[in-house]
Amino acid sequence: MLLPLFAVLLSLLLASPTLAASAEDWSKRSIYQLVTDRFATSNDSVAPCDTSLRTYCGGSWTGIIDHLDYIQQMGFDAVWISPIAQNAEDTAYGKGYHGYWSTNLDLLNPHFGADSDLKALSKALHARAMYLMLDVVVNHYAGVPTNTTISPANLFTLDYSSLLPFGTQDDFHPQCFIGNSNDQAVLEQCWLGDENLPLPDVNTEDPGVVATLNAWIKKTVSEYGADGIRIDTVKHIRRNFWPDFAKSAGVFTLGEILTTDPVYAASYLGAAVDGVFDYPKYYQTVTAFGSTSGNLSALQTSPSLPALAPPSAPGRRVLTAAFLENHDQPRFPSYASTDTALTKNAMTSVFVGDGMPVLYYGQEQGYQGGADPGNREALWLSGYETNKPLVAHVKALNAARKLAIAKNPAFLTTQASWIQQSNPSALMLSKPPLLTLLTNIGANTSAVQPTWHIPAGMYKPNTTLVDLLACQAVVVDGGEAGGGVTEVRAQGGMPQVLVPASMLSRKGDGACPALAGAGGSSGAVRAGRGRVVRGLAAVGTVVGVVGLL
Ligand SMILES: *[C@@H]1O[C@H](CO)[C@@H](O)[C@H](O)[C@H]1NC(C)=O
Ligand SMILES: *[C@@H]1O[C@H](CO)[C@@H](O)[C@H](O)[C@H]1NC(C)=O
Ligand SMILES: *[C@@H]1O[C@H](CO)[C@@H](O)[C@H](O)[C@H]1NC(C)=O
Ligand SMILES: *[C@@H]1O[C@H](CO)[C@@H](O)[C@H](O)[C@H]1NC(C)=O
Ligand SMILES: *[C@@H]1O[C@H](CO)[C@@H](O)[C@H](O)[C@H]1NC(C)=O
Repeated sequence: MLLPLFAVLLSLLLASPTLAASAEDWSKRSIYQLVTDRFATSNDSVAPCDTSLRTYCGGSWTGIIDHLDYIQQMGFDAVWISPIAQNAEDTAYGKGYHGYWSTNLDLLNPHFGADSDLKALSKALHARAMYLMLDVVVNHYAGVPTNTTISPANLFTLDYSSLLPFGTQDDFHPQCFIGNSNDQAVLEQCWLGDENLPLPDVNTEDPGVVATLNAWIKKTVSEYGADGIRIDTVKHIRRNFWPDFAKSAGVFTLGEILTTDPVYAASYLGAAVDGVFDYPKYYQTVTAFGSTSGNLSALQTSPSLPALAPPSAPGRRVLTAAFLENHDQPRFPSYASTDTALTKNAMTSVFVGDGMPVLYYGQEQGYQGGADPGNREALWLSGYETNKPLVAHVKALNAARKLAIAKNPAFLTTQASWIQQSNPSALMLSKPPLLTLLTNIGANTSAVQPTWHIPAGMYKPNTTLVDLLACQAVVVDGGEAGGGVTEVRAQGGMPQVLVPASMLSRKGDGACPALAGAGGSSGAVRAGRGRVVRGLAAVGTVVGVVGLL
């Protein structure tokens, strides 16, 4: 009798809408961001996709459902999809295939499928215990000008009646373009876009407009079972608009604040939305790993956003999202470096630090598209190949993060700290139990590899550490050379993510399963591949060559 009852309970659990997910729930996850039109077609037809044409290539919600294995097997447990609302068709800059040019919030974008397809996607994600993140745009619409004759009184004529559910000019701010202004009032009151494609700015001071938007987000989240929302252009709406909107959504809110300034980004954290994208860290990461002469200083010295956030309600969890690419920025290899060692280091830094990691689809396939629209390639053209170095890298990084969360209950709330290194190409980040070794020396095999210095006292002498990326062992000095001090030499410019070997599980579902059970003693370590330098006095010499098989 127990078993059928259990089955009934389980099916009830799977069928019922998930409980509203909080920032704390999200903090344990890692997100795969995809452009719905470019991720997968409904029937796996390999449609051509010339990104420069800025038109639909054929991706759909059904296509996503059919490729959830691909996403989940890399270790992701949340998917962020493109905005779902109906978008402008023909504009001076192509079609709204990306979803950021709404024309009617109450209708779905028919190019992505039917209402039932989106609901099926939500259900399919929840059946896998994965989260759905919807992307929402409430700052602006897309207005296709009916008359581009510019006059001072009336910049151009727009058909406001087609911008629904609003539909009148009064529902929008008066026409003016933001241009290059950084003035907060201009950012909030004026328009994004330009004369060719104005983006009418919603009048979010009007109580009727506000009530409509709050009701809309509440309905949309509940209708499609969203577990969180990513909010576009947050800095372009007055700050005190957001708390009620977030409350109406009732789920985790993650805001886009495009800025290099940590203080500015943090000012929205907790005060307006639960989480923000760590754009400042994005820029610092690109600076650090963008070339073999990248400046590592800003990445190490910049304050963390949560530390700068305004005081929030006691116990309120705020969260940042870390990323290396997204739909708005050129892909990392396109402008920073095509050096795979640099790419792997930059990707690693996203997964081992304080922010919830977000990976932009296609990065795992080594896509190199430049600025928008070049960075929105069709993923089906890759064949969803999983036997690729960066796919394996992403998988290892997700497994490392999951292992850290499982082994240290305080992992997510302990701020990562940089441990100063004397080598100018070396970085060390500690977020227990992860100790991450990064370098921007690059893949050039002629370059002298940097050495990382693990400080004395960090580990007991003779502790075996395992690099979760290469699945190789490092043994902490046993006393001969000072005790507990270890120097690790880089190999091929690759990053390393170290944990004590005793943390590996035998279950075979996590990090370096083949090494599971090696324990804390080097007895389980067999001589083999790998180059490890043991002991402070031994810098420059290979004292112990160990490997775990
Ligand atoms: C696959 O879908 C596309 C777009 O919906 C359609 O044009 C094509 O005919 C379909 N192909 C097959 C083999 O069903
Ligand atoms: C276009 O706008 C200008 C300036 O407002 C106006 O003089 C003109 O009549 C308009 N043309 C049309 C076709 O609406
Ligand atoms: C690196 O960047 C920091 C600021 O983050 C700056 O103070 C320093 O001068 C830069 N170093 C070099 C070598 O450019
Ligand atoms: C590789 O490193 C060596 C030694 O530093 C240097 O001479 C050479 O120019 C580098 N090659 C490239 C392609 O950067
Ligand atoms: C570490 O291991 C070596 C070799 O087995 C041993 O001689 C040494 O005493 C050990 N050090 C400590 C502190 O246990």
